[in-house]
Formats: sequence, structure tokens, C-alpha cells
Amino acid sequence: MSARHSEVAVPIAEIDNRPILLAPSVLSADFARLGEQARAAEEAGADWLQIDVMDGVFVPNISVGLPIVEALRRSVGLTLDCHLMITQPERYVADFVKAGANNITVHAEATAHLHRTIQHIKELGATAGVALNPATPLVALEEILPYLDLVLLMSVNPGFGGQAYIPTTSDKLRRLRRLLAARGLDRIHVQVDGGVKADNLAEIVQAGATNIVAGSAIFNTRQPVAETIGGFREALLDAAGKR
Ligand code: DX5
Repeated sequence: MSARHSEVAVPIAEIDNRPILLAPSVLSADFARLGEQARAAEEAGADWLQIDVMDGVFVPNISVGLPIVEALRRSVGLTLDCHLMITQPERYVADFVKAGANNITVHAEATAHLHRTIQHIKELGATAGVALNPATPLVALEEILPYLDLVLLMSVNPGFGGQAYIPTTSDKLRRLRRLLAARGLDRIHVQVDGGVKADNLAEIVQAGATNIVAGSAIFNTRQPVAETIGGFREALLDAAGKR
């Protein structure tokens, strides 16, 4: 799975020989200048860009849809990661791939046909992920794991940016990492999303995360995006003992 869709790029850091990718979530960006903010993230070294799609049913919020994915596709060369927090996501995966999505993650809790949906995403040429809400146990992944490129562990209850990281997620991360190793599936990306900051990043990547989503810590600050992403890189280098 490439860091940037248009070129082979250097991931933001490596821990235990695992590349760690950074995926800023545009949910916290200033939508009045979204393209500019996305390009600033790309220039500052982000690897992916996450787009949180919410339908007001699966989660108690309504966010963005296809036109935003198309606009971001025109703006950056990054891997566009669509996190679908919608019911029956299978209805829309083809539209999101057509709009420019490179990775599509659906919630295990949102569809009755997870295997068919994952197969469909991959047939469309995108990579496929499954997300688990904080209270959904890892056993929900048992059958679908071999078909996945990515597992997303929500570290907040989905629907809003700016929430606090749920601390028990780190133990869930460690258990997932062990499960993947035991099944020879270490190739699968382990993504964490919600409440990730420069000051809890080391714990999260040492617990086994390889793909980091961050919204308010990157966009919703007084600092320019280049500085906030720089802060994440330094925290990762610290975590890797490389600084
Ligand atoms: C929440 C979204 C997250 C959110 C993360 O449901 O899935 O991607 O934007 O924002 P922070 O990093 O502020 O928790």
C-alpha cells in the first residue's frame, strides 16, 4: 500500500521496521480553504488524507460526501482514505472510488454483508478496511481479516473531532497486533482514529498502530499545518528512539 498514490514516498517514520503513516483528517480543517489546507498537509509530509463521511444515522452527525472527495482528488496526490460512517455503505462504495478514493473503510457494525462489501471495494481497484467502534470486540474481525488491507480501531465514539482518546484502546491495539502476528497477517495496516495528539502518539505506535489519523491536533490549532505535522514527526522519531 503506497504512502502517496502518485509516487513512492518516505513514510513519516518507521518503528520496528514498520512504516508509520500519517493521515490527517480533514473533518477539523477550515472548509472555507480546504484545498489550501490539504496541500499544506501534503507539502508538510502527510502520507494520506482521511475524509470522514457521516450520514446522521450511523453516527449523530452529518459531514461531507462525494463532491468533497472529488475536490480533494483535484487538489492533492495523496492517498485519499474515505472512512464511511454510514449505514449500508455497500450502496456507495463504487461512487466513492469513482470520485477518487484510494482506500475505503466501512464499519463492521454498519452492514449485514461485510464480505461482499469488501470484495466489491477490491474489485473496484481500491484497498479495503474495516473499522470497529470502541465497544466492538476484535472477534468481529475473525472471518474477514484475511481479505483486508487495513483495520481501523476507533479510539473515540465516532461522529465528532476533538474528543479525548479512550485509553483502553492501547490494550485493544496490542491484542490486535498479536492476533495479526499469530495469523501471519502483519501486512495489514493498523489505523487508529480519535483523540491522537503528539503527546500520546508514542504509546499508540508502540502498542502497534502503523497508520495514524489526527484531526484537531493537525488542523484545529493556531499553528500552521507544517508545524503541527512537524510536531508529529518529532514525536514519532522520539518514539522510535531516533532523536
Ligand atoms: C471521528 C472521526 C475522526 C476525527 C478525528 O468520528 O472519525 O477522524 O475527525 O479527530 P480528532 O483527531 O480531533 O479526534
